[in-house]
Amino acid sequence: MLKIAVLISGSGSNLQSIIDAVNSKELQCEISFVISDKNNAFGIERAEKNGIKTYIFDKKEYKEKLSDTILSVIENKVDFIVLAGFLSILRGDILKKFEGRIINIHPSLIPSFCGNGMYGIKVHEAAIESGVKVSGCTVHFVDEGTDSGPIILQRTVPVYYEDTAEMLQKRVLIEEHIALPTALKLISEHKVELNNNKVKILK
Ligand code: GAR
Repeated sequence: MLKIAVLISGSGSNLQSIIDAVNSKELQCEISFVISDKNNAFGIERAEKNGIKTYIFDKKEYKEKLSDTILSVIENKVDFIVLAGFLSILRGDILKKFEGRIINIHPSLIPSFCGNGMYGIKVHEAAIESGVKVSGCTVHFVDEGTDSGPIILQRTVPVYYEDTAEMLQKRVLIEEHIALPTALKLISEHKVELNNNKVKILK
């Protein structure tokens, strides 16, 4: 069975969507660890409630040692790393050792509204400001860039003239909670093939 570590920084609603998919047996996978880079992340409570092993490595304390510390805990113990609202940037060995085995969820249709400094509500503020009529979320592989790795799947939502960033965020989050477990299910069923930086979903 696919073993994963889920990395979070906050509420952990995307983590919850994975927990729910596992508990309902929709997703055959084991969440071996939940790791937060922030003290008091509510996602840690969600994990503990489900008997999942947790670690908190606060980024203010661990700074440039964060990625190596995470690697030291999960190396040889998990197959995949899932960034579910994890707001630190992974660097160094962890990217090499888990090459092609780290995925992230981003709350826009990449390559729009992504990259350095684009996270959380800022993404939706930028989408509203630009006047786009469609937004959504993207699950993608993580590489050395920010939000630049191959796209696995995207889900879209309409953007209305009257929307606030918070309204759009809520609408996109509903789709995130479908997208992330769906991507993991495809991975667990070996249906995600990476060819020349592009993903083919096998039937
Ligand atoms: C989600 O909207 C996720 O896409 C976003 O943070 C939120 C975390 O929510 N991630 C990023 O912006 C990464 N660039 P959650 O803690 O409730 O899952």
